[in-house]
This record gives sequence, structure tokens and C-alpha cells, in this order.
Amino acid sequence: MTQSFRLGVAGLGTVGAAVVRMVARRAATLSAATGREIRVTAVSSRDRDRDRGLDLAGITWFDDPVDLARSGEVDAVVELIGGSEGAAKAVVEAALGAGKHVVTANKALLAHHGAALARAAEEAGVALAFEASAAGGIPIVKALREGLTGNAISRVYGILNGTCNYILTRMELEGLTFEACLKDAQALGYAEADPTFDVEGFDTAHKLAILTSLAFGTALDAEGVSVEGISAIQPLDLTMARELGYRIKLLGVAQIAAGGIEQRVHPTMVPRSSSIAQVMGVTNAVTIDADAVGELTLIGPGAGGEATASAVVADIADVAAGPVRPAFGRPTGRMQPASRVEMQRHEGGYYIRLTVHDRPGVAAGVATRMAEREISLESILQRRSEMAASQDPHGRSGQPVPLVLITYAATEGNIRAALDAIAADGLLAEAPQLIRIERE
Ligand SMILES: NC(=O)c1ccc[n+]([C@@H]2O[C@H](COP(=O)([O-])OP(=O)(O)OC[C@H]3O[C@@H](n4cnc5c(N)ncnc54)[C@H](OP(=O)(O)O)[C@@H]3O)[C@@H](O)[C@H]2O)c1
Repeated sequence: MTQSFRLGVAGLGTVGAAVVRMVARRAATLSAATGREIRVTAVSSRDRDRDRGLDLAGITWFDDPVDLARSGEVDAVVELIGGSEGAAKAVVEAALGAGKHVVTANKALLAHHGAALARAAEEAGVALAFEASAAGGIPIVKALREGLTGNAISRVYGILNGTCNYILTRMELEGLTFEACLKDAQALGYAEADPTFDVEGFDTAHKLAILTSLAFGTALDAEGVSVEGISAIQPLDLTMARELGYRIKLLGVAQIAAGGIEQRVHPTMVPRSSSIAQVMGVTNAVTIDADAVGELTLIGPGAGGEATASAVVADIADVAAGPVRPAFGRPTGRMQPASRVEMQRHEGGYYIRLTVHDRPGVAAGVATRMAEREISLESILQRRSEMAASQDPHGRSGQPVPLVLITYAATEGNIRAALDAIAADGLLAEAPQLIRIERE
């Protein structure tokens, strides 16, 4: 057997501790698969005294993870600290600078600095592996980078944030508000104390930027992702979605469009019969549309120590076995420049929920403004509010009522302009709700 492969693990939290355990537990298989003994020789974390349930006997402890990254005791650094800047970035840069392979689960770091880090890895002739950075335990990075090279991919989209899917699932099944479900998610440990990053879509955007680059061979463009979260979704939207044959999911979507690639994160109506609509709770899913294989959907756990360690350990085995592959599937010099398609040019169906004054002619006024922008309506549903009905069961009350429109394909620019005109006409009692429809 060739030389053993020595790992330095920086960060011993949820994922790091699970990785240390899994490497020990799967030692025989890892060695059989790679032809090398794989073992953790060094670790670093902030608090040396914390009991992590790990046997660290014979493993060198580093207070400073950058010292670990430069240590002669390790061949590969496994960065599991997290965050796009600070210690995580310093560790990865130091490791690549010292000619060591890097395995990381850090989507924020990859999304913001992936191109520079991939270049540094290339120059050093070492690997930069990041399977766990998108969709946790689902092997989507490998699928896109290696498994689908014979395909032209037209779209990749998915449920990439378990917290949001958990909240939307409970809102739908139990008719609860966003705020109530978020509170429960926090109590159960599915959401952070500051949930902004998850519920406002930024975490999904980071993962999407990574998947876009892998799917289309383009330079990472995290700043080019249009991002909208789920905090404005109301129970009524989920009820309407059900009646109309849809479910609402927070999707990250990357798609070839005229003039470039759309990257967008937003609450989305998906047909209830679609594979992605069946994915409930904290589970993640990614669907790829490709010319040869058609539609491919991978479903699985997007988070959790063991599931994420599964992806990290797969990367460790790949790197140990060699040879070194380009981080994003092709040398950085051969990646296409990112070519953004702005959201205003997005074309698709829309669910629009207006809250209008219950007066004669309002629906006709709305339809006229839509027609002026060449927006065709597939359906229009008017609901009388309970308050209005109780006050005046036979006639109109003047109270605000929901008016729901489903459009055929239209551009976002035209939809926004029509909504501005409807607002200027004084027809709206509240800001409109707009949810894009993603068809199969
Ligand atoms: N958790 C998941 O389900 C999941 C899923 C996919 C990807 N990821 C990614 O995996 C990475 C790790 O996530 P996690 O959930 O395991 O985070 P975590 O539980 O918060 O663990 C972070 C670890 O980093 C250590 N750390 C922080 N600052 C440090 C420093 N300056 N020097 C040395 N160690 C430092 C902490 O030390 P102490 O323990 O001593 O405080 C802790 O052990 C992140 O990039 C995350 O996005 C996580």
C-alpha cells in the first residue's frame, strides 16, 4: 500500500465532528477503495476543552487553524469552520499556498471566492473539493461535474434550503403563518437564531451559484443571482396554490435563456404532480434538465452532521485516490464568462394575488391593464373576504378582497409595469403578491 493520507480537520462542530467519526468508522473501506490508509492526524477548533464525544488521542491539536493548514503533518485540509471570510478563508488560502489539497463544505466561501481558490488550487496542482457545499448529502456536485459531461444541460433547479422547505411544508399542511412556523423551526434547531440568511434566500443563492458554474461551465457569479425569500408568503397563497394545482417551494433556478443564464431564487409555484413538489420537510432536491438523460431529480438530506459528512468523506476518498481534477470540472482558464440575464427579462407564468377594493369594474380595470402589456390571463379568481360577506351577504361591501390572476408566459418587466399601472389607478388596498410559476 502507498503512503497513508493524512487529514487536518479545521472546525469540529456539527459536520467536523461527524467527519472525524466517519473517517475512523469507515477506515477499512476507505483504505480498500483508495489503496491508502486515511486518517486524521491534526484538528483545530476554538474551544479545546469542549467535550465533542471524539477520541482525539494521538491527534495533534492546533489552536490556530492556519498553523494546521501549513503543518507538515497533513496532506489535505478539511475546512469545516464556515463563513465566506475570516478563519475559513485564511485556512483554505494557507492550505492551497502550502500545496495541500482542500476539502470544504463551505458554500459561502465557494460562492464568493471559488474562482480565485480554484485558480490557486490549479497553480499548486492540488484538489479543491466541495461536494457538501450544495444540497448537503446529495451528490449533486459529482453528478454535474462528472456524471453528465455527455449532456447539454438547459436548466438546473432545486430545493436547496431545508429550513425554508420545512416552513413552507408546515404552512401548507397546517394552515399556519410564516412567523409561527419559523418559531417552531428555531425551537427544533432547523433555523438559526438569526434566520435571515436562510429565509431570505441567500443560502440558496450561494448553492445555486455553485451549481450554475458546474452545470454550464461558466465563471461563478453569486452577485448575479436575483434573490427573494419566503417571509412574505401568506397562508392564503398556499391555499390558492392547492386549489390551482400547485405547491409553493423556495427554488433556486439556473436556466439558459436568450442572451445568457438566468440565476434566480424565489418562492415558486410548481405543479403538484412534479417530482420536486413531493419533497416535503427539511429534505432537499435538485432537478436537472439535460438533452440526453432528460429530467433527473436527486432527493435527499441537505443538512445534518452525518449526511453532510457523507459528502465530505466521499471527497476525501476521491482526493486520496487521485488524480487531481479541476474544481469546477474544467480548468479555470476554460470557464465561460458569466453572462447575466436580468430578472426583468425573465419570461414565465405568474400567480398574482391582488387585494382590491370590492367595487364594480375593478376586475375589468385589472384585466385592461394586463391586456395593455400583452399579458394573457389563464384564470382569474375572485374571493369575497369573510368580513365583507358577513357585512353584506348579497352585495358588494367596498371591503378589500383578494383577486388572484394566473398568467400565461409574460416577461417580468411587463408584469411589473402592469402592476404599477393598476396601483396608480387606485385599485389596490395592499401591495400585490407575485409568485413565479415554474413549469415542467
Ligand atoms: N450543519 C450542516 O448541516 C451543514 C450542511 C452543509 C454544509 N455545512 C457547512 O459546513 C461548515 C461547518 O458547519 P457546521 O454546521 O459544522 O458549523 P458549526 O457546528 O458551527 O461548527 C463550526 C466549527 O468551527 C469552529 N471554529 C469557528 N471559528 C474557528 C476558528 N477561528 N478557528 C478554529 N475553529 C473555529 C468551531 O469551534 P468550537 O466548536 O470550538 O466553537 C466549530 O467547531 C459550514 O461551512 C457550513 O455551511 C453545514
